[in-house]
Amino acid sequence: MLYNTKILSDDDKNIDLAVRALKDGEVVAMPTETVYGLAANAFDVPAIRKIFKAKGRPQDNPLIVHISDIDMLKNLTTEISSTAKKIIGRFWPGPLTVIFPKSESVPLSVTAGLNTVAVRFPSHPVANKLIKSCGFPLAAPSANISGKPSPTTAYHVFDDMDGKIPYIIDGGACEVGLESTVIALNGNDVCILRPGEITKEDLMEVTPMVFIDKAVTSELKSDKQAASPGMKYKHYSPRASVTLIDADINSFKNYCDDNADSKTYFLVYEEELSFFPAHRTLSLGSKNNYSQQARNLFAKLREIDKSDAEKIFARCPDKKGIGLAVYNRMIRAAGFKIIEL
Ligand code: TXA
Ligand code: MG
Repeated sequence: MLYNTKILSDDDKNIDLAVRALKDGEVVAMPTETVYGLAANAFDVPAIRKIFKAKGRPQDNPLIVHISDIDMLKNLTTEISSTAKKIIGRFWPGPLTVIFPKSESVPLSVTAGLNTVAVRFPSHPVANKLIKSCGFPLAAPSANISGKPSPTTAYHVFDDMDGKIPYIIDGGACEVGLESTVIALNGNDVCILRPGEITKEDLMEVTPMVFIDKAVTSELKSDKQAASPGMKYKHYSPRASVTLIDADINSFKNYCDDNADSKTYFLVYEEELSFFPAHRTLSLGSKNNYSQQARNLFAKLREIDKSDAEKIFARCPDKKGIGLAVYNRMIRAAGFKIIEL
């Protein structure tokens, strides 16, 4: 234990405390509208190393740099294309990360050696205030131990980071609950590397050529290079093994009757709770409410982790709208173990 980790309320006095720690090269957990982030000064290489160490993150997985105004972006990249301008004009501040060619000022430890940098302008008022008060951008991955579900409350962060960082700023439960949409631009083409609350349809309202990277819905073959390095890792995984079952509710129920034991938990839609044993069943949200499923997913996986569960049988979400982001996280949580019935 290096630190006596404190959860701080988000008042001005505590924001000042966090800003001082960040200026001193420390790592601080901050709320954003998507998930909690593990933040450090993006220009401070030793501080960046501390992020990788606290998370146990593979060295080849780059970080997102968080800004609080467009001037900060100009210092991070050599080029803001007209397509980029249109997109950020519409969706920033918000849950969208854009990959830019990186400028000299961005350390290679942030980008894991890539010549591009991922940038996001969060809309959460606490993240915004923190970055503004620092006066420098904050590099921040999700504030979980690498491979675990991302944290959507300050308490989730505490569970993973106790003793590893000085402060966690508590901004309440995250509104979106899943990480930002990550896009790469190539001329007029937009490629979604990681789906999130901002969907393909949303982006197409601004620019017509929007594609979804293959790795979003399938497992990357080991000989293929990932456009987004984070895509290749098993991810978001609770301790219990997750099996995703792509079936209607009757077939799902039959599968559970045949294969579940007393350490099997069920992650189903709100409307289906009564079909399963109450103390081993959790709701992902209402069947057609994809935003609610997004908000619930990581919290429910963490809740199951606190139980005696060894297996989780989960419903397979729809891939429509933000449902695609829920599906993308769930297939990774399941290590791509999907049973189609
Ligand atoms: O909502 C979010 O994006 C949260 C909050 C804290 O802002 N952050 C987050 O960071 O999810 P992280 O590190 O858990 O995920 C960043 C993803 C990874 O999959 C990483 O590989 C990808 O973005 N990424 C970062 N820089 C990249 C780059 N230059 N090119 C391609 N992918 C990149
Ligand atoms: Mg992450």
